Amino acid sequence: MKIAFCCTDTKAEPWITGLRAALPDASVEVWLPGAPPADCAVVWAPPQQFLDEQPQLKALFNIGAGVDALMRRRLPPGALVVRLDDAGMSVQMAEYVCHAVIRHFREFDGYEADVKQGRWSYRKPRSRADCPVGVMGLGVLGERVARALRVFEFPVNGWSRSPRAVEGVRGFAGTAQFHDFLAASRVLVNLLPLTPDTQDLLNRDTLSRLQPGGYLINVARGAHLVENDLLALLDEGHLAGATLDVFRTEPLPAAHPFWTHPNITITPHTSARTLRDESIAQIAGKIRALERGEPMAGIVDPVRGY
Ligand code: NAP
Ligand code: GLV
Repeated sequence: MKIAFCCTDTKAEPWITGLRAALPDASVEVWLPGAPPADCAVVWAPPQQFLDEQPQLKALFNIGAGVDALMRRRLPPGALVVRLDDAGMSVQMAEYVCHAVIRHFREFDGYEADVKQGRWSYRKPRSRADCPVGVMGLGVLGERVARALRVFEFPVNGWSRSPRAVEGVRGFAGTAQFHDFLAASRVLVNLLPLTPDTQDLLNRDTLSRLQPGGYLINVARGAHLVENDLLALLDEGHLAGATLDVFRTEPLPAAHPFWTHPNITITPHTSARTLRDESIAQIAGKIRALERGEPMAGIVDPVRGY
């Protein structure tokens, strides 16, 4: 088995060492232009040239959950695209989203500002019933997030393409129930994959449908959000704030208004990081399953795009 490693923005050496240790019978090499074609590839946003040079590829193992960068490429015919299937990401995402929701709900930013001014002041406790959280996407990450929010007793709505039953979560499915889902939610958490159907889905029309004083948490992809629509709805007061981990352009350009907006909290695409050891163990297990002709989890449907 010949495995090529082609991951943009990733230090290759520890991955190569780990993959060689996990798959001692395989040859694992960093891809260089013109290298002999491989049987499998471990990738993140690979250049088109890499894909064009892999006519016999059986599978592309993406070292992230989202495969949108791969789906924009021309892929080798017959190659499976396999996503990371949790591998330690869902617990990170649950802690990030719960932190953002609780920080907003309990007004911790306001308390911090008061303390900085030397003020010992109380705010009226809010009712949890007035803070229903809508989770867009009930997949590997969204379901974990929805369950974690239920532990804190927030009312939770979930929206997916097909109906999903998650205990304690009010389920909505498909475009037919999208507006009802938004109207039932005050805080909106985006955990959708980026596909032609979901690009720009967070826009003036959809965000206006949230309950007044709405709050957006975008942890999926920057291209889901029409950034100027968010800014307008914050200025108009329909939305109270946003926590954003992903942006249309990353790194976020220095002059972008999100850096300084008083009601926007940003983080640098860090809500659920790829954990190298867990990912290598998972990919090695899947490569062994592929060699034995056994099924594996995380195969992407190229028609759905996720
Ligand atoms: P997943 O397991 O593929 O789940 C996707 C969910 O979205 C499913 O519930 C799916 O519905 C739903 N969905 C897809 N298209 C839809 C549509 N058009 N309308 C309604 N629902 C739709 O994905 P995941 O592993 O949870 O990850 C979600 C995304 O998070 C990734 O694609 C990636 O972009 C992002 N992410 C971000 C970070 C970060 O650090 N910021 C880290 C990891 C992942 P069905 O259940 O009906 O299929
Ligand atoms: C990160 O954004 C991922 O998709 O894993």
